[in-house]
Amino acid sequence: MISEKIINSLKGSSMIRAMFEEGERLRKIYGPDKVYDFSLGNPEVEPPVSVKKALQNLVNSYEEGLHRYMSNAGYYDVREKIANYLNREKSSQLTGDNIVMTCGAAAGLNVVLKTILNPGEEVILFSPYFVEYIHYINNYDGKPIIVPTVKDTFEPDIDAFAKSITKNTKAVVINSPNNPTGVIYSEDTLIKMADVINRKQEEFNTNILLISDEPYDKIIYDDAKVPSVFKIFKNSVIVNSFSKSLALPGERIGFIAANDKIDDVKTLVDGFILCNRILGFVNAPAIFQKVVAECLDAKVDVDGYKKKRNILYNHLINLGFKCIKPQGAFYLFPKSPIEDDKEFVKRAANHNILVVPGSGFGCPGYFRLSYCISLETIENSLPAFEALAKEFR
Ligand SMILES: Cc1ncc(COP(=O)(O)O)c(C=O)c1O
Repeated sequence: MISEKIINSLKGSSMIRAMFEEGERLRKIYGPDKVYDFSLGNPEVEPPVSVKKALQNLVNSYEEGLHRYMSNAGYYDVREKIANYLNREKSSQLTGDNIVMTCGAAAGLNVVLKTILNPGEEVILFSPYFVEYIHYINNYDGKPIIVPTVKDTFEPDIDAFAKSITKNTKAVVINSPNNPTGVIYSEDTLIKMADVINRKQEEFNTNILLISDEPYDKIIYDDAKVPSVFKIFKNSVIVNSFSKSLALPGERIGFIAANDKIDDVKTLVDGFILCNRILGFVNAPAIFQKVVAECLDAKVDVDGYKKKRNILYNHLINLGFKCIKPQGAFYLFPKSPIEDDKEFVKRAANHNILVVPGSGFGCPGYFRLSYCISLETIENSLPAFEALAKEFR
């Protein structure tokens, strides 16, 4: 009964999910406080107080019609507020017409890919990458093309990038701050990428869309800045959500913003609006559109994340692990002390430490830790990491 495509996807089922299930098993045996689960990017922190207040105000001042369908693009006043917010942050000149409200970044990415892809067209990803991208591209019969990043920085390898672009290249997906490395791509790298894209567009007489997936743009440390892709890439869209910045992943709320400099941006956005409808999302959740519009300057406790990053990063470095210090997001991506990252992950699970192998992100030889869990769990896990590291000395 099931399609061959889905049977194949089921066979390669997510390693992150597999670790989650292993966590459930271990929690039943040892108790939840004895299992150190770093496998999922599901924030433990609460949304900022302003989110709860906005939600309460909305319920108290009950607006008639709040639960009705609206335009498939979302409420226009909300879209305008997001455009104005982005113009302040990204030096763009958007209006509400450049914004489509979506059911999180996941839906936003699907909407963009459905709108632009013909079967067989190529989408470039940089490894390590968020594994769902592969599924999203496959949903529209596109072809993922994986390009490596530079070993010590995890920034895109510009030469490899230039070589990977063909006449069939339709889009390039970047994710910065990055899941799983925590790296923010520098302005210099982005400018070099834009030069390559411009050259290749001319050579092949094509248009290549830069899709910037930015759900971690507000979780940044040490005065780091996320460069504005709108200033650097003419053909660009930002896909964002409030899952991480406001700790609202269960509410499924996000948006697509299309660069005002794109030729015929109106047709592109009309495509997004149509695809939001025909993919069955119809529109983003009504109440949470209104809530986030009141909280665009708010964010979760980033200092709390920074404290967790520092404790874990310093501990791992002291134990001899090699790891780049993340500038954003809430992940660490250390090198596995043995080549076989899946074997290392199994050995970590023997210490009740649950992490995800780098192979799950197209980057074997590494492992990912997600530190959006409680400080207590992180502190309690430190002796277990010590015991694990001892095995590899
Ligand atoms: C890089 C990246 N993109 C997109 C998403 C999807 O986020 P959302 O909850 O907004 O759909 C995630 C979620 O973990 C992510 O890490």
